[in-house]
Amino acid sequence: MKSKKILVIGSSNTDMTVKAEKLPLPGETVLGGTFCMGHGGKGANQAIAAKRLGGDVSFACKVGKDSFGTMSIEKYRSENVDISNVMYSDCPSGVALITVDGNAENSIVVASGANADISVEDIRNMAPVIASSSILLMQLEIPLEAVIEAAKTAHEAGVYVVLNPAPAPAQGLPEEIYRYVSLIIPNETELALLTGIRTDSREAVLSAVENLKSKGAKSVIVTLGSKGSLVCDGDTSELIPARKVKAVDTTAAGDTFCGALCVALAEGKPMSDAVGFATAASSLTVTRMGALDSIPCRDEVIGLV
Ligand code: ATP
Ligand code: RIB
Repeated sequence: MKSKKILVIGSSNTDMTVKAEKLPLPGETVLGGTFCMGHGGKGANQAIAAKRLGGDVSFACKVGKDSFGTMSIEKYRSENVDISNVMYSDCPSGVALITVDGNAENSIVVASGANADISVEDIRNMAPVIASSSILLMQLEIPLEAVIEAAKTAHEAGVYVVLNPAPAPAQGLPEEIYRYVSLIIPNETELALLTGIRTDSREAVLSAVENLKSKGAKSVIVTLGSKGSLVCDGDTSELIPARKVKAVDTTAAGDTFCGALCVALAEGKPMSDAVGFATAASSLTVTRMGALDSIPCRDEVIGLV
């Protein structure tokens, strides 16, 4: 089946990752780590995931006029992602400092730079591109007002809007956005921030999902790390277990999940099959170091589903 256009609007970062035995406490120095630098940013990871997994993908982001920005755009070009909507800023390109511990858990600090310079005006200039897409996929590493404007434009044009609310604002999201979003994909922490409900049990996650629906959310998928994901579509909810793998670095697991899911939905697959594809794809990502570099290709995933 011919795939339909997926537009990703989001962040582009250069990731500097140190893997060490433990994450440092405030004021602490941890020795003995290994370093790698690579491409990342939730927007870029999701766009590349969707492309490698078989989607027809356009990526709109903003980078600085510096070497990091140039290298990022070259990378997206080499992956055959449509970069005709990339924008440039006088701010530096985005950078993420990532620490990964011996259990593959990470902590991340982002200097947003040019990502934070995406304006409502930039989004208005992209309105025809948004309206001609089938799926719009976004995250929250760019200004919220830009995300809302894009979601509204897409919704009014009948485009399916997928929001990965990562990172989630501590004060939650304005209820307006739920009107425009077709599917929201938080992890447990983000779900707790969006609802003010602690998500430390299956029951608590379900009541937080109900709370999100009361704010206007339509379909919800909660990603639960190594526990899998909870798919709440219509009146039903189903736990899809994760695959058993040896995790090395979970960075970009959620990004791979979102990108993969959009590919399968664009191909017309039912939600349960799409989640199966996303689960398989993200299980491969966690077995490899890095963000964008760890994202699998379609052939690797097809072998698993
Ligand atoms: P990140 O911020 O690290 O990119 P996230 O918190 O947004 O990730 P997760 O819930 O950790 O997203 O993971 C997304 C999906 O990836 C899960 O639903 C699961 O299918 C898969 N996954 C994550 N961690 C593991 C793991 N340790 N083993 C197997 N699959 C995993
Ligand atoms: O989701 C992983 C991404 O979050 C990393 O690539 C990093 O850039 C941060 O934005």
